[in-house]
Amino acid sequence: MTKKIAILLSGRGSNFLAIYENIRKGELDAEICAVISDKKSAKGLLKAKELGLPSYFVSFKNKLEGEKKVIEIVECKKADLICLAGFMRVLSRDFVKRFKWRILNIHPSLLPSFPGLEAQEQALEYGVKYSGCTVHFVDEGVDSGPIVKQAVVKVFDDDTPEKLADRILREEHKIYSEAINIVLNNQYVINGRRVLLKKS
Ligand code: GRF
Repeated sequence: MTKKIAILLSGRGSNFLAIYENIRKGELDAEICAVISDKKSAKGLLKAKELGLPSYFVSFKNKLEGEKKVIEIVECKKADLICLAGFMRVLSRDFVKRFKWRILNIHPSLLPSFPGLEAQEQALEYGVKYSGCTVHFVDEGVDSGPIVKQAVVKVFDDDTPEKLADRILREEHKIYSEAINIVLNNQYVINGRRVLLKKS
């Protein structure tokens, strides 16, 4: 049976759209049951509305109230998985506990390097020769949960944060759907911090 995902975003939503496209092309068997944003004018939310998807603005002025509302939507829609796609907030311990192993995030660096904001700038400043992106389960920390998938991207001498971000984003658009597939199909086991693929 097709599983349901809820997407949380705060911005332009290119990862959400890549997931949407992969579902449309039949490369990902999932249904987007809700797109939720803490920003009323987020491009991603407007796009979701245009596409006719169930779309919700949730105010996070009061974080607890905001999370309560998200829980209501996610549970009412019976989402199997919550996918953070450029959602610019740290979720509370209680929220994360409630949805243990049911929240994924994508981050534009090879974690554990460069967590937090402006990961691409951090990578350039540090001088790494390779960076990339990471899809991981969300735990109580910031960008710290067990890693489901990563992709590597070369850093060039003439890179700017924007050029590097674009190159990384192309990989993000591939690996997020691949990671969602693994999780929705229960193709993994967790061993400590390691997310291992089940042998088929
Ligand atoms: C991406 O770089 C993602 O890795 C990070 O926030 C950005 C969101 O971009 N968490 P978009 O809104 O999906 O285009």
